[in-house]
Amino acid sequence: MKIGNIEFGEYPLFLAPMEDVTDPTFRLLCKRFGADMVYSEFVSADALIRNVQSTERKLNINDEERPVVIQLYGRDPEPIAEAAKMAEAAHPDIIDLNFGCPVKKVAGKGGGAGLLKDIPKMLEIIKAVVKAVNTPVTVKTRLGWDENNKIITTLAEQIQDCGAQALAIHGRTRSQMYTGSADWTLIGEVKNNPRIKIPIIGNGDVTTPERAKECFDKYGVDAVMIGRATFGNPWIFEEIKYYLKNGERMEKKPFEYYIGILKEHIEKNIEWLGEIRGIIHTRRHLASTPLLKGIDNFKQTRIAILRAQTKDELIEILDGIKEKYNLV
Ligand SMILES: Cc1cc2nc3c(=O)[nH]c(=O)nc-3n(C[C@H](O)[C@H](O)[C@H](O)COP(=O)(O)O)c2cc1C
Repeated sequence: MKIGNIEFGEYPLFLAPMEDVTDPTFRLLCKRFGADMVYSEFVSADALIRNVQSTERKLNINDEERPVVIQLYGRDPEPIAEAAKMAEAAHPDIIDLNFGCPVKKVAGKGGGAGLLKDIPKMLEIIKAVVKAVNTPVTVKTRLGWDENNKIITTLAEQIQDCGAQALAIHGRTRSQMYTGSADWTLIGEVKNNPRIKIPIIGNGDVTTPERAKECFDKYGVDAVMIGRATFGNPWIFEEIKYYLKNGERMEKKPFEYYIGILKEHIEKNIEWLGEIRGIIHTRRHLASTPLLKGIDNFKQTRIAILRAQTKDELIEILDGIKEKYNLV
């Protein structure tokens, strides 16, 4: 499958855009384990055109992470189109528009998933951005606003007609936020609509190699996008790729291998943000990593990991786990 001129092999796996998670360090880590495309955190169009420095920093990309997407969100066509030009100057491979963010501070103000309540404006935004830039423009959205307004089948056609070159669908409504489970049947319907020619990227609750394969086989999507299951688990891309190729799970590597990756993540974040901010920024990954799940009597160690204030303290705890808990 292809988006613009970017050729993806079979069964592409994408790292989902996630605020405060998909920074360049994490994107590169996921890339190393096989992510076929990585997305930036969402970038506020309004903040970008006001030259807010912390927002401008979100445009930083490295050549090694290509193909890389910069995702924008906003409320109105003009500022988003202007922001898209600024984003284009950072040379992303794709510019993505976020019409899926459900949180109040975004959707409540008419941005993100808020645009699912104003489809004409959403379409105007897409057209304005497509016109403003030469970079391929894609869209990420949800099934609809709520249970009674699952409009994605019609909406997908409209999005395509506005010039978007791919569509990522998270199989939930805005009202669901992150509750319940993602419904892939409508994603499959969009994909199987003969009028739809652009690639459809399926997203929501893919956490295992088996589920990823099922999403490709049963719903026919062109790519699978993975979000939360990557927390403290960037190697998930390698595991899924292996399964898709060989039909069986990859053999687990020794505990030290995975701990080494988490330690590298901590060190990179510390290099980037300084000691304490780097540690805090990595905590979400340390709290969620499957590597440290299901270990008997682990509670105190987990608390110690999440409370550690210095790199030495944190690394010492991580280095001691294998022996303390007799892990292989
Ligand atoms: C912490 C967090 C931050 C997110 N930030 C964004 C974002 O900036 N842009 C976006 O389109 N979606 C964002 N999402 C939604 C994810 O991209 C994805 O659609 C959602 O988590 C469902 O996929 P998953 O079940 O694989 O996690 C975020 C999700 C989480 C959990």
